[in-house]
Amino acid sequence: MSFEDVQIPDAMLEVMRTARSIVVMTGAGVSAESGIPTFRDALEGLWAKYDPEDLATPAAFRDDPARVTRWYDERRLRVTSCRPNPGHDALARLEAIVVERGSSFTLLTQNVDRLHQAAGSRHVVELHGSLLEWRCTKTGEQRTYLDPTPFESYPPPSEHGGLLRPGVVWFGESLPAEAVRAADAAVSACDVFMSIGTSSVVYPAAEYLYQARENSAWTIEVNLDPTPASHFVNWCIAGKSGEVLPVLVAAL
Ligand code: OAD
Repeated sequence: MSFEDVQIPDAMLEVMRTARSIVVMTGAGVSAESGIPTFRDALEGLWAKYDPEDLATPAAFRDDPARVTRWYDERRLRVTSCRPNPGHDALARLEAIVVERGSSFTLLTQNVDRLHQAAGSRHVVELHGSLLEWRCTKTGEQRTYLDPTPFESYPPPSEHGGLLRPGVVWFGESLPAEAVRAADAAVSACDVFMSIGTSSVVYPAAEYLYQARENSAWTIEVNLDPTPASHFVNWCIAGKSGEVLPVLVAAL
């Protein structure tokens, strides 16, 4: 899709121009153009190659901590070499425009790659944690590991006699309480909710769009493929976020 092909409805732009509070929720699709694999895309999605039950659950970590921590550290190292794409940059610009005019902006992300922050987004709520944060299984102490070198051994030992586990949310775990508080507050107050680059199938994150809709917010989806949410939004734009978002933000 070329930039000329992106069609942004005028009514949608007008709603975004006058919104008092915008919430954007992103998924792996926003990072796809930075070279980070999504989860459910048919061929190269992570869950097409690996069974999440073997890698992304507390039981998987308990049964084989070496395998789980090696896999997450490989993803951490890949992310440290990736850069934000035009979709991330456009969302950082959108935040600046909205905040500059005195409205509020919150970016809820399911992504664990910190590319939104690298692009300059500041009001980011990490619903599923971050690959760069690892915490001690004994003390819970959490630290950021930006160094693009692998851990020396797997599972990496902590300084307190425990193990280090990735600071991401596994299936069956609760979302970080602070993230839920921030997301609930933002979603209940927003008058525009945008869902971008997510298959909208993982809860509780996928619920936020419906909550916003219940609160009479305008809802927008920007996604490469149709999702279960596509029928419920006011505007559904099919396309790559790295192509659609720059055109959308430039038109505001
Ligand atoms: P998915 O892989 O489930 O969905 C990615 C979505 O992005 C798909 O609907 C694609 O059509 C779309 N997509 C792909 N490339 C795109 C692009 N360039 N521009 C726009 N859209 C694009 O990833 P998520 O919805 O993020 O959770 O998955 C949600 C959660 O499931 C993840 O946070 C992770 C995963 O298991 C945990 O690990 C807890």
